[in-house]
Amino acid sequence: MVSDPHRIPSDALVVFGATGDLAGKMIFPSLYAMCKRGALSAKVIGVALDDWSIEQLREHVVESISRAGGIDDRAALDKLLTQLDYVRGDYQDSDTFHRLARRLDGAQRPAHYLAIPPSLFERVIAGLRDAGLNRQARLIVEKPFGHDLASAQELSRVALSAFEERSIFRIDHYLGKEAIMNILYFRFANSFLEPIWNRNCVASVQITLAEQFGIKGRGAFYESTGCLRDVIQNHLLQILALLAMEPPAYQNYGAVHVEKAKVFQAMRPARPEDMVRGQYAGYRSEPVVAQDSDVETVCALRLYVDAWRWEGVPWYLRSGKRMTSTATEVLVQLKPPPQRLFDDSDPVNGRANYIRFRLSDNSAVALAARVKQTGKEFIGEQRELLLLDAHPGAETPYERLLGEAMAGNGALFTRQDAVEAAWAAIDPVLSTYPPVEIYQPGSWGPAGADALIAADGGWHDPST
Ligand code: BG6
Repeated sequence: MVSDPHRIPSDALVVFGATGDLAGKMIFPSLYAMCKRGALSAKVIGVALDDWSIEQLREHVVESISRAGGIDDRAALDKLLTQLDYVRGDYQDSDTFHRLARRLDGAQRPAHYLAIPPSLFERVIAGLRDAGLNRQARLIVEKPFGHDLASAQELSRVALSAFEERSIFRIDHYLGKEAIMNILYFRFANSFLEPIWNRNCVASVQITLAEQFGIKGRGAFYESTGCLRDVIQNHLLQILALLAMEPPAYQNYGAVHVEKAKVFQAMRPARPEDMVRGQYAGYRSEPVVAQDSDVETVCALRLYVDAWRWEGVPWYLRSGKRMTSTATEVLVQLKPPPQRLFDDSDPVNGRANYIRFRLSDNSAVALAARVKQTGKEFIGEQRELLLLDAHPGAETPYERLLGEAMAGNGALFTRQDAVEAAWAAIDPVLSTYPPVEIYQPGSWGPAGADALIAADGGWHDPST
């Protein structure tokens, strides 16, 4: 018996945009995985404009699941297909929502997943509200949550006009990743970290999300988004918040949200001179990309969290497409010892001590230290104490987040105050920014990105 009404599981999942890209790539494969684990009993209703029959949607779902990883459990697939229904409709037409209400057939707590462009959110949310489909319901939305601070606030106003904050689930799939959840755990389940986890011992922090591939045919999306909005404002800032936050005061996800929001609120608004933008040679020849596009495919940013713990510590964030390798990594660089007792320890060029979080493609936490080599001389070498972690069989982030949203558990989602504070921190560089520097595909981006961090020892190469 669940006593908190907010934790009663959803008895239906409505997928707006059921025939679209996100539903095909992420949502249906995740629902199939949930069926395999016996974790999906709710009915699933797809809604879209396409004049498809339910059979056509079923075929599409089977194809999507095959493409995503294959079908190895026919019974689970059949279960999903049996639970599936389809409502064809125009979101502008109130009749769509009335037909949806009939198909929900008495479901008391539907979860509505908006797998549609943000420009349609307002219309769909109004349609749900007018048909009474927001009552006891949940709303699941995808990043980007707005395009800047003003649009994020407007989006929030629209969502809150029909759903209460605790019923809104904003998906940032990075928060569903094992290695990223482990940052929170590692920080607060161990005691040895706390004494060094501050401005006294930490010299700088850098976070890299590098991708070897390009924009994968998403020219239209990328032209209106760019790297800063696509991954830095959300994925990388969420990682930063988990690294920078104070310990939550009590064991409740609300407390984590409060602490994360405080990090963004303490963030010094970014300045154009703290940002470098790059564009890979050839980007302008991608389909749907403007010939004179100034959109960045690499972005490097220096930020500061003006809080007691982090005063003066620079946080370097960088991400990019068509880089040397695909990897996501955090490097917390510790300050050198106060005295240089051994000739070979070079606190300027050597990194000596750091803590490294490998977040993808595998997961690891490493602590770097210098140890003496065998011999009578005091000559050392750099070593890492490595905690390597593989997660065979772990849920994919989407599978996990869908399950959590339908169970009403908001721990792995972002809250509006944090979203807005994160936008506020980068809002100045959304309107005033340096021009893009062209870089060669397969490189680490433009020279300017290296210059940005040169004083703090340069970027760590996550492919090594
Ligand atoms: C998405 C971005 O949110 O995250 C993509 O839109 C990016 O551009 C992707 O490639 C990275 O996610 P992951 O899980 O592959 O690291």
